[in-house]
Parts: sequence; C-alpha cells; structure tokens
Amino acid sequence: MTEPISVVVLSTGLDNFKDIRRALSAEERVKLLAGGNDAEQLYEEIVRLKPNAAIIALGANADQAVRFIERLNVECPGTTLISAAQNASPDMIIGSLRAGAREFLRIPISAEELRTVLDRVSDFSNKQMVEAPKKQGRMIAVFSSKGGCGTSFIATNLAAATNAKTVLVDLNLQAGDLPLFLGLDHKYSIADMVEKRSRLDESLIGTLVTPHSKHLSLLAAPREADSADEIEPQHVFEVLQKLREHYDYVVLDPQHTFDSITLAALDQSDEIVLVLTLDIPAIRSTQRALAIFDRLGYPRKKVRIVVNRWSKQIDLDLRQVEKFLGEPCVGFVPSDYQTAVSSINLGTPLVQAEPSSKIALEIRRIAQEISLGVVPLSEAKPRRAFWNSFLKKQPAQAQFNLETSMEKV
Ligand SMILES: Nc1ncnc2c1ncn2[C@@H]1O[C@H](COP(=O)(O)OP(=O)(O)OP(=O)(O)O)[C@@H](O)[C@H]1O
Ligand SMILES: [Mg+2]
Repeated sequence: MTEPISVVVLSTGLDNFKDIRRALSAEERVKLLAGGNDAEQLYEEIVRLKPNAAIIALGANADQAVRFIERLNVECPGTTLISAAQNASPDMIIGSLRAGAREFLRIPISAEELRTVLDRVSDFSNKQMVEAPKKQGRMIAVFSSKGGCGTSFIATNLAAATNAKTVLVDLNLQAGDLPLFLGLDHKYSIADMVEKRSRLDESLIGTLVTPHSKHLSLLAAPREADSADEIEPQHVFEVLQKLREHYDYVVLDPQHTFDSITLAALDQSDEIVLVLTLDIPAIRSTQRALAIFDRLGYPRKKVRIVVNRWSKQIDLDLRQVEKFLGEPCVGFVPSDYQTAVSSINLGTPLVQAEPSSKIALEIRRIAQEISLGVVPLSEAKPRRAFWNSFLKKQPAQAQFNLETSMEKV
C-alpha cells in the first residue's frame, strides 16, 4: 500500500493517548487523523473519515469500549478496529475481538507489535480496494447543437426529478446560468474543483457543490469567465470521473458546440439526451449532430432525441422528421412558455413546483425512459396554491426576485 495508513485513536486518558501517539509517530506510514477520549465525538469522526484503522483503548469501563467497537463494526466495515489495553484480562480481549476488533495491542505499545498490526491493516485495506469496485454513477448529457432549444431547462428538471443523489453540472464555462434555474447563489464553481482535483474526496466535493434539495446539488460554472480559460478537457474528464464515484446521477448541461471540453463530456456520458425544437434550423442542426456522433463512434442507442416545445399546432409531420433524422423521438415536452418561464424566473424546477403540470409529467416520463430513478409523484410537493398566489397577487415580489437574480448573473 503506497498510501498512508490513516488512524483514529480513542483513548481513556491522557497517559495512554500519549503512549499510543508516541508509538504511531515512530511509523512514517501512519497518518493520525483524530484522537481523544470523547467517544461520541470520535464515533462521528470515524464514520465521516472512514480511516484505515481505529485504535480503541479498553480502560476501566471496558464494556462501554466494547459497545463502541460493536457499533463501529457495523457502520465502518472497511476500518480495521484495534483494541488496546495496559492490563487486559483474557476475557476483556476476547470480548473486544468478538465485538469486531480484528487486532489487539498491548500498552505500552512495542514497535515490533505495532509494525505487525499495521502490516495486517495495510493488507486488509488493499484487499478492500480490490474487492470494492468504485461506484460509477450514471452520467447523462442534455445536449443541443443549437442554442435556445431548452437544454438547460430540461437538464435542470431531469436532475430535479431524480430520487437519488444527483449533481447537475454547468459546463457552459463562459456563461453558465444554472444557478438561476435553481434559485441558488453559489460560492464555488467547477474551476475550484479543477484546481483541487488531485484531492477530491466526499467532503471536499460536498463543499464545492451548492446544495439545492434533498437529492440535488449543483456544480456551477465559474463566475468569472477568465477562470474558465485555464480549464482543459482532461481536467473536466477527471472531475466528472470523481463526481460519478460520489453521485448516483451526474447530469450535464454542456455548450452547444463541439469544442474539446464538450466532446470530453459527451464521450464520458452513458447517454445523450439530444434536444431539438420542431423548426427547420433545429432539425438540420440535430441531423448534423447525429452525423458527428456517428463519426465519433457513439452507438445510436447512446442518443435519445427529445422534442421540446411540442405542440399539436406545429404543421411539420413528425414521421417525416424522424425519417429525416433516422431516429425516433422518445419525448415530447409540451410548449408552455408562461409555465416554463415562470419556473425559471422563480428559480424552482417545475417538477418540484408544479409536479402535475404537463411539462413536469413528460419530463418525469423521459427520466424514467432513460433509466433515471424518479421521486414518486406522491412525494413531490405540489405548491400550486403558493404559485397561484405568487403569480397572481404578488407581482412586486416577483419583480424583486427577478432583480436579485439579475444581480447574481
Ligand atoms: N417546453 C417549453 N415551453 C415553452 N418555453 C420553453 C420550454 N422549454 C424552454 N422554454 C423557454 O426557452 C428559453 C430557453 O431555454 P433554455 O435556457 O433552457 O435553453 P438553452 O438551450 O439552454 O439555451 P442557451 O442557448 O441559453 O443555453 C427559456 O426562456 C425557457 O423558458
Ligand atoms: Mg443553456
């Protein structure tokens, strides 16, 4: 194992803490993450940090320490639990091993014993890494090669409809506007994540994204277009790879061009939702995008075409459009400018604010079609009454929101 062995120590007093720390500090490969004798505080730290090992001193109140080991054994199966004591009876040692400790150390700790135990911790951690393949969340890019077709609107609503940990990523690095779609004021952006990409773990990722709701967070585009200039395709690739290790779904809103960052994102995606509106320029642009995807070697089943602003009044024959594209359309998001624009201006995705609206129902259906798990309709909280009063009775407040939103741009 080339990585350091991370350790947390629960002592029973200053003396044995000093002894354990002295022994650990003699071992270069050990990284002591936390220590002390406050069991509850350390329990939370161990669950959060998931160290390679936790040393638990068995003091006068050995039963309490044994229960502590029992709880940790269930919560952190990847952490090697090591009990330690100065004058332990065989019963005490056996009790701790039965509770889930894998090793025992005598205090004062001998360098040789510690080395043997650390070798075993290292072996166990390595085995865990081999045995537990990294999580690979599902990545969906919502793309259109023509601007203004509603990709940001659809990406936001697809991401907000999911029932699992989801991150929405604004890849419009020069002029991303997704914080407005979600009513968020972000502190960090993808530029910060790129800068810290070599040490991205769950807690750092959690700090750099902006939470929106129980399931959804946003990774915003940089506020200053300048900081986007430094971002390279490989950086985006690495960041997205990290995100899918920590999220069930990663939903991307890329630019409308085939620049190298967009291509890196499209390559990596499991599925591309290709959005178009039923007008000749958008249809042609979609056909060109499909031809480029063919040249890039994307299997056609990776691409799912969705029509936005669908209306029966459009006098184009859908069958002819599908024949022209050589692909069926899998979704038809109805045209309803008032509803769509109001949700954007209020910064609340429609699938949350008006889950029973026609647009929201169709976006939920599309989410299921592309294998995204969706929050049951009964759990989505309709806020129609609030909306009606907001839209009809409080134009001044709506105006205020618009103004504050404009300030954030
Ligand atoms: N189904 C719909 N019905 C009516 N209007 C819609 C619909 N979907 C989106 N719109 C409107 O279209 C406009 C553009 O939407 P959006 O910003 O999502 O498009 P985009 O493809 O991301 O554009 P950009 O080129 O800025 O990235 C918005 O004003 C939005 O309200
Ligand atoms: Mg957009």
